[in-house]
Amino acid sequence: MALEKEKAKEDTVVKIKVDHVCKCYEKNAAATENTKIRVKNISKQFEEEKKDLLFSDNINPDAVIGGDKSAYVLRDVNLEIREGEFHIFLGASGCGKSTLLNIIAGFLETTDGAVFLDGVPVTKPGPERGVVFQNADSSLFPWLSVKKNVEYGLKVKHVAKAERSKIAQECIDLVGLSGNEKKHPIELSGGMKQRVQIARSIASDPEILIMDEPFGALDAQTRRVLQDELIRIWKATGKTILFVTHDIQEAVYLGEKISIFSAAPDAQIVKQVEVPYDYPRELDNEAVSEFTRGVHEALDKAIYAHGREPVDKSNLTKTR
Ligand SMILES: Nc1ncnc2c1ncn2[C@@H]1O[C@H](COP(=O)(O)OP(=O)(O)OP(=O)(O)O)[C@@H](O)[C@H]1O
Ligand SMILES: [Mg+2]
Repeated sequence: MALEKEKAKEDTVVKIKVDHVCKCYEKNAAATENTKIRVKNISKQFEEEKKDLLFSDNINPDAVIGGDKSAYVLRDVNLEIREGEFHIFLGASGCGKSTLLNIIAGFLETTDGAVFLDGVPVTKPGPERGVVFQNADSSLFPWLSVKKNVEYGLKVKHVAKAERSKIAQECIDLVGLSGNEKKHPIELSGGMKQRVQIARSIASDPEILIMDEPFGALDAQTRRVLQDELIRIWKATGKTILFVTHDIQEAVYLGEKISIFSAAPDAQIVKQVEVPYDYPRELDNEAVSEFTRGVHEALDKAIYAHGREPVDKSNLTKTR
C-alpha cells in the first residue's frame, strides 16, 4: 500500500514536470511568432566546464583547485531576433560576443538559460545555422579547391554530384568569385578566402548566417566591398544574419538592429538600437554620423558601467 502511494506520488510529480515543460514550449512558441532566435536568461561561466573536464565524479574539484568559481562571462542575457533581421552584436573585446554566438551556433553549452530556434531549444549545431569565422585559414580545407570547399557541406549531406556542383557554382557566382573555382586557398587573398567561407555557408542554404567578425582582418577597401556584397546577399536571400563586430561604423553600416554589450564579467546586452536608415547607407551623411556618434556613446556608457575606461574615439574621424 505504502509502495502504491509512493508510486502515485511519483506519477503526480512526473505529470507536473511534463505539464510544466509543455507549458514552457507553448509559451515560447506563442512568444516567437515572428522571432527566429530567442536567447533566454543565458549565463556562461567557463571554469565549471574545466572542472567537468579535469575531474572525475568521485573527486571534489573544489577541494583540489579551491572553491572560488570563475566569474560569469555572460550573466542573464536575453535577446530576440526577428526572422530575416540583420542583427549586430557590438561590444568591447572580451565581453563575450563570440561566446554568445557559439552558444547560438550550438558549439558551446550554457551554464544557465537556453537558446530557442523557432521555439525549439538549441542543443547542438544544425544545418539551419551556417557559421562564418573570422579566420578563414583555419576554416577552409587547404587541400581542396574553391569549388570543392564550397561543395563540402553538400557532400556531407549526400547531395548528388551534379546538383552540388550546380549549387556551388551559383554560390561562387553570388559572392563574386567566378573564374577562381579551381584555385586552392593558398592562392587566394584574405578577402577571397572570406568569400569562399560565405559561399560555403550559403551553399547549404541555412536559414541563419552566424558571422564572427568575418571582415575583421581585412584591409579597409576589401572590407567595404564585402560589406556591400553581404548586404546584397542578405537582400537576395532574406536570411537572418547575426554578425559580430567591435567596429561601430561597420555596425551602423550593416545592421538593422544593434545589441550593445557591457564589459565582462557579468556582461549583458545593456542597450539595443534600431538603425533607421535605408541601404546603402552613407556614413558621411550628417545624420548618420550623428547617429554613429550616439552608438559610440552608448558603447562607452556600456563599458563604463563596469568601471572600465571608455574605448578610443579616434576611429570616429576615419572616413570610409
Ligand atoms: N573556452 C574558453 N575557456 C575559458 N575562457 C574562455 C573560453 N572562451 C572564451 N573565454 C573567455 O570568455 C571571455 C569572453 O570571450 P569571447 O571570445 O566571447 O569575447 P569577445 O567579446 O568575442 O572578444 P573579441 O572581441 O576579442 O573577439 C574572455 O575573457 C575569454 O578569455
Ligand atoms: Mg570574439
